[in-house]
Amino acid sequence: MRRKVIAGNWKMHKDLNETQSLVTKLSNALSKEEVKCDVIICPPYTSLSEASSLIKDSVIKLGAQNMHFEEKGAFTGEVSTSMIKSVGCEYVILGHSERRTVFGENDEVINKKIKKALASNLKPIFCVGETLGERESGIMKDVIKRQVTDGLQQVSKGEMEKIIVAYEPVWAIGTGKTASPEQAQEVHVFIRELISEIFGNDTAENLIIQYGGSVKPDNAHELLSQNDIDGALVGGACLEADSFTAIIKSV
Ligand code: PGA
Repeated sequence: MRRKVIAGNWKMHKDLNETQSLVTKLSNALSKEEVKCDVIICPPYTSLSEASSLIKDSVIKLGAQNMHFEEKGAFTGEVSTSMIKSVGCEYVILGHSERRTVFGENDEVINKKIKKALASNLKPIFCVGETLGERESGIMKDVIKRQVTDGLQQVSKGEMEKIIVAYEPVWAIGTGKTASPEQAQEVHVFIRELISEIFGNDTAENLIIQYGGSVKPDNAHELLSQNDIDGALVGGACLEADSFTAIIKSV
């Protein structure tokens, strides 16, 4: 059985005070529960150091929402892997659809970031997913195949074992429209098959594939009950301790 991994992507929400309040509430709530999955929070850069201190004695692990693929240099506004590691990050979200669509990151850039993260001993949460137009015009699988194969160029089998893949249909992110458990399951199986073709069956079988896109306390259990859904990448519902805890408890 693969372990389940629930991650919260805070996006551009929560200043320092709000971070203190949310992380304190969350770690208190989780300390009273038997947590049956891995829990990761990904606050904005400005809150990472504070969140890292606040989660020290809890089960919660820390991730960043992005990073640059160069080690250092004249890259105004960017943050390196050693910087996010120095504030306690173990994980980094890469290839999120908002990075792809709003900030113009393509598969080649995402691949460079994945390789840099792995070389820096960070675990990527690698996001892929189709738009509504791509799904409706029947090219969903081609798009996901391209994102997976191009994003993972020159990644070794050993490195692949450190990656979490998140399937996030773009049309379900922040829209309140969730993929049905069957729709998500179908794509998760497809992703596992792609990974099996590239890296072999054992790597594919052990791969954690999260679903993301309007995961809420009331749909989490059904999604997470599917065979190939190994966790969730949660946006909106991770911004309140109650709803994020409810999702974690639904595992
Ligand atoms: P959402 O975001 O849960 O608000 O749809 C998910 C994500 O973008 O990772």
